Amino acid sequence: MAAKLAVLAVVLALLGSASCQSGYGGGSPNPSPPSPTTTYPPAPSPPASPTPPASGLKVGYYDDKCPGAEAVVRDAVRVADAGIKAGLVRLFFHDCFVRGCDASVLLKPTDANPQPEMLGIPNLSLRGFEVIDAAKSVLEARCPGVVSCADIVAFAGRDASYFLSNGAIAFAMPAGRYDGDVSLASETIPNLPPPFADVTRLKAMFAAKGLDTVDMVALSGAHSIGRSHCSSFSDRLPPSATSDMDPTLAAELKANCTSATGADNTVSQDYRTPDQLDSQYYMNVISRKVLFASDAALLKSNDTRALVYAAAMAPKVWQNKFGEAMVKMGNTEVKTAANGEIRKVCGFVNNKPY
Ligand code: HEM
Repeated sequence: MAAKLAVLAVVLALLGSASCQSGYGGGSPNPSPPSPTTTYPPAPSPPASPTPPASGLKVGYYDDKCPGAEAVVRDAVRVADAGIKAGLVRLFFHDCFVRGCDASVLLKPTDANPQPEMLGIPNLSLRGFEVIDAAKSVLEARCPGVVSCADIVAFAGRDASYFLSNGAIAFAMPAGRYDGDVSLASETIPNLPPPFADVTRLKAMFAAKGLDTVDMVALSGAHSIGRSHCSSFSDRLPPSATSDMDPTLAAELKANCTSATGADNTVSQDYRTPDQLDSQYYMNVISRKVLFASDAALLKSNDTRALVYAAAMAPKVWQNKFGEAMVKMGNTEVKTAANGEIRKVCGFVNNKPY
């Protein structure tokens, strides 16, 4: 609470001095206040309303095809622990960014395809697969061949966001995706942003998926939950000469990442509220208490910096924006009956080999 007030005080002070300035000091090491061109709507926040779905996707798609399907997924997610729930939010992102939201990330290695997406380097730390499988087996027993794995991943990402935000992030997820049958580890690195990405690269990689800067900054709030392996940010720890991480956090992380056995330890992404999907992430960006260079990079261009301050100041607006951006991400390169299938088991295509 004290930190929140401190950030607000800083923001208000900066806003107060903004009228004396001609610009926002590109290249300045100090964060500047929100730009007047920020695309977040002003408070009070509008009611949550899902972005219009891509053609073919529909809210309530399974209502007549498999009644209660979404509740089955929600029940499977509800019983998972907070870490697995975080993993489910990330799983949806990693599915959508590689070949679209088609559950290609779930396909396991086979003789015909020994290197699927899940073995790509960025995906080795994914978790939550067992929740998807648990929901799928209930749904197959109830409505065989009806509910796609891609939709289960999308519902699970939505539901994990709901639970981890204590119900504050609640939105409808359009459905009707089909499952893909191509999954290649070699496509992960070119499509998934690395933790050392600068802001230009981040914008370009999100734009390649039809997501704009507002979506990108809103979705980055997912780094208020879950964990990271130390190897993903060790270049930012002492004695790094270039890191702008808060020195106290850097020292703590250094201690937590030091391992006598050389193990790649894990730490919470959000040092304050690690299991809450909340706007604390944006406070952490402002106070330079974030793990990745890609998080810190959001302060380094005027538009992303303005959006970070807007989200920190207006959590409800960010919550709505997060839901909208998740729906938008869920529209990425969606498959249909013409180029997809409804898998029987999420780890394998229906007709092996693939
Ligand atoms: C902006 C570009 C992004 C980069 C560079 C990035 C990178 C990373 C990295 C390196 C990790 C830690 C992996 C590990 O070492 O264990 C991570 C974790 C995570 N990311 Fe991102 N990410 C980005 C965007 C997103 C988005 C858009 C979402 C979801 C909407 C997301 C959700 C998560 C979650 C929830 C975790 C924690 C997962 C867990 O605890 O299992 N990230 N991310």
